[in-house]
Amino acid sequence: MSDARTAPAGTPDGSILSVRNLHLAIAGRRRDTPILRDVSLDIIPGEVHGLVGESGAGKTMIGKVILGIQPSRARITGGSVRFDGADITHLPERDRRRLMGRGLGLIPQDPMTSLNPAYRIGGQIADVLRLHLGMDRAAARARALELLDDVHIREPARVLRQYPHELSGGMRQRVLIAIAFACRPKLIVADEPTTALDVTVQRQVLALIKEMQAQEGASILFVTHDLGVVAKICDRVTVLHGGRVLEAGDTRRIVESPQHDYTRALMAATPRHDRPGDLLQPVPEALTARLNAEALAYDAAP
Ligand SMILES: Nc1ncnc2c1ncn2[C@@H]1O[C@H](COP(=O)(O)OP(=O)(O)O)[C@@H](O)[C@H]1O
Ligand SMILES: [Mg+2]
Repeated sequence: MSDARTAPAGTPDGSILSVRNLHLAIAGRRRDTPILRDVSLDIIPGEVHGLVGESGAGKTMIGKVILGIQPSRARITGGSVRFDGADITHLPERDRRRLMGRGLGLIPQDPMTSLNPAYRIGGQIADVLRLHLGMDRAAARARALELLDDVHIREPARVLRQYPHELSGGMRQRVLIAIAFACRPKLIVADEPTTALDVTVQRQVLALIKEMQAQEGASILFVTHDLGVVAKICDRVTVLHGGRVLEAGDTRRIVESPQHDYTRALMAATPRHDRPGDLLQPVPEALTARLNAEALAYDAAP
């Protein structure tokens, strides 16, 4: 499993995040179900790293392990996660909380359910600033205004007083982006941050994430099922199927000359803005079956 294709691209030594040979299984009553199989990936400071694959590949699970919020039945059976020079694979709850905010941030998939409907926007941003940075009320309010301005929300003072249901999906996602960047984290996990939005809003939100990332110098693990989105925003990309890394490298290289059959199939299934007339081909069932069989054979290997 360690030829040039599956080895993570980049420089592990200088990585802000380094996932090494990670194995994870979900504990069941009779047996455990493997979910992640020998996953390795490195994120270089300041890069947007795409994690791409179809639904069920294990993308969200990887993001959760990095953030330490995997389900309780999930068991890390091998490998490690290092962040900013420290092993965080099995970090106690208290140290985890300290890491969130200034170390790690999250842009969630669903802007509808990720804000608390009972609290005003201003209070929700201020809570984060007070919790992680110890700001007082006045400082938190001033910073919240500045953050809403950074994410190009008009009339920020008014929006601070509003409740989530008073905002559109795109506006809510802007607020969540503001919250993710609020404490200037070193790494943000963005899990399908534009999937729930319609196409025009999606484009604006992608541009915003890229802009904030460049301004703040954060690294981003950008989880998506859409190679088109990867091509727009990611510097490098890791391709995942059945909890296995199939290919990794510079986005341009992956898009222009994909090495793995699955990456090629994903490309053929993805609409291209430069070739809008192309007929889209779904990932062939035979290929999916072959990859699933490979994954099972991997589990069975001694
Ligand atoms: N809480 C859970 N309990 C049991 N299985 C889970 C749980 N969460 C995810 N899984 C399984 O883990 C696999 C990967 O899921 P996920 O990481 O959500 O994939 P993706 O984000 O790529 O669509 C899937 O087979 C899914 O059914
Ligand atoms: Mg997911």
